[in-house]
Amino acid sequence: MTPRRIALGCWPTPFEPAPRLSAALGREIWFKREDLAGAALGGNKIRQLEWLLGEALAEGADAVLTTAGAQSNFCRALAGSAAKLGLACTLVLRGPPPPRQGNLLLDALFGAEIRFVECADPWDPSLAAALEEAASSLRARGHRPYLIHLPGVSAPLAAQAWAVAAEELDADWRAAGIDPATLVVAAGSGLTAAGLALGLARLARRCQVRAVSVQQPADRLGPWMVSVARRAAERAGWAVPPMLPLVIDDSWIGPGYAIPSEESLAAVVRVARSEGVALDPAYTGKAMAGLIGALHEGVLPEGPVVFLHSGGLPGLFAAADTVAAAATPEVAQA
Ligand SMILES: Cc1ncc(COP(=O)(O)O)c(C=O)c1O
Repeated sequence: MTPRRIALGCWPTPFEPAPRLSAALGREIWFKREDLAGAALGGNKIRQLEWLLGEALAEGADAVLTTAGAQSNFCRALAGSAAKLGLACTLVLRGPPPPRQGNLLLDALFGAEIRFVECADPWDPSLAAALEEAASSLRARGHRPYLIHLPGVSAPLAAQAWAVAAEELDADWRAAGIDPATLVVAAGSGLTAAGLALGLARLARRCQVRAVSVQQPADRLGPWMVSVARRAAERAGWAVPPMLPLVIDDSWIGPGYAIPSEESLAAVVRVARSEGVALDPAYTGKAMAGLIGALHEGVLPEGPVVFLHSGGLPGLFAAADTVAAAATPEVAQA
């Protein structure tokens, strides 16, 4: 089935040079400002939601349901997009209820129903049961819920959204007159980077997608991303590329998923002070630490580097004390 894509964001998102960071790092660096995607405080989930919610509406749903961590950017983007479309939204969030800050504050503001499940990780079976219970409760209230599970049933369509987005990047690069060798992307579930690698392969671009993992080891993330890209291509009716231009770097996860690392905090401060651009410590800060680290190690191919700013700004406020402690002149010089 070809889902109907609906309009949520403002496209194209800005594509801009990062001149002071480029001068400091000795390499031409550009930012793709997906943080400015223009709906529900932006980020890389808006393009995916244009497709996923298009499918939900095509199936006659009037409610959406998903699960993630308490500070999920995806849940916030879903809650805001659902509000915009007049859909009910239920979020099943992992862990004991934390303070209502950052994304969690926005979830509530956008009117989502929030349920907490105390479980260890995203693969815990109690989550599936909690989702089923939330879906039953929506049905009992007369709703027709559509389940979005990014690392599950929704993965191929979410990756397809980013494969299509590669065409926008291609147009950006042509307009700027550059031929980037590397596109650096923060990878959680890896769907964004997998989709981009698929899209760039379809366009026969020489650019390599460098997925900086914020959660999973490369030996688990890599095969999953390749399989999702293949399923996205099959679903879209495209030829499956024999090779994906994809490199996975899992050396910047630091103390753990969503826990700021020293390097990610230093990268957040550095980019804020050199370009006036705010990153977040859990995703884009770690991806930028990976970009800087790869340049220092000399492992990036010659040519301009594009950094996908995938959003996540509310997470900066949820980690306010840690970020404030890092924002000292000493860290800025690091
Ligand atoms: C701000 C931000 N950047 C990057 C990612 C990673 O995207 P993906 O899960 O498609 O790898 C996420 C995922 O939640 C995110 O919130």
